Amino acid sequence: MTQSTRIVLSSDHAAIDLRQAVAKHLEAKGFDVTDIGPMTPESTHYPHHGAAAAEKVAAGAADLGIILCGTGQGIMMAANKVKGIRCGVCSDTFSARMIRAHNDANMLSLGARVVGEGLALEIVDAFVGTAFEGGRHGTRVDMITAMEG
Ligand code: RB5
Repeated sequence: MTQSTRIVLSSDHAAIDLRQAVAKHLEAKGFDVTDIGPMTPESTHYPHHGAAAAEKVAAGAADLGIILCGTGQGIMMAANKVKGIRCGVCSDTFSARMIRAHNDANMLSLGARVVGEGLALEIVDAFVGTAFEGGRHGTRVDMITAMEG
């Protein structure tokens, strides 16, 4: 991905601080970041925020999405219900590279109650810094897409 890559961010209430740290980190690197919130700390519902970011990616309004909740799991499940979305939860940099290289993931999910800020930013760098390898992996991703109907 290049610095012109458009990245949409969203989270639930459990991950606002980490989401804002991710936004600042990516903006400092020159990425085109759209943070769709929430901006206030009231308890909210992660399916709404996962779907909102996923819809932006699926519609082509963003190239990649990064979403966060307490574990990263619930918001990932919601995002993956949107057609065209391939989102994985990562708590390590190897997985973050591999979901781009082999799975052509267009969204990354992080758990703010699982990873600290330092590791989270390294995971983000691994995700946005890795390209899809295509080839046999493309055949497999196409198989996933075919399951969407
Ligand atoms: C909110 O308490 C929590 O359930 C949510 O952030 C997330 O971890 C769900 O998967």
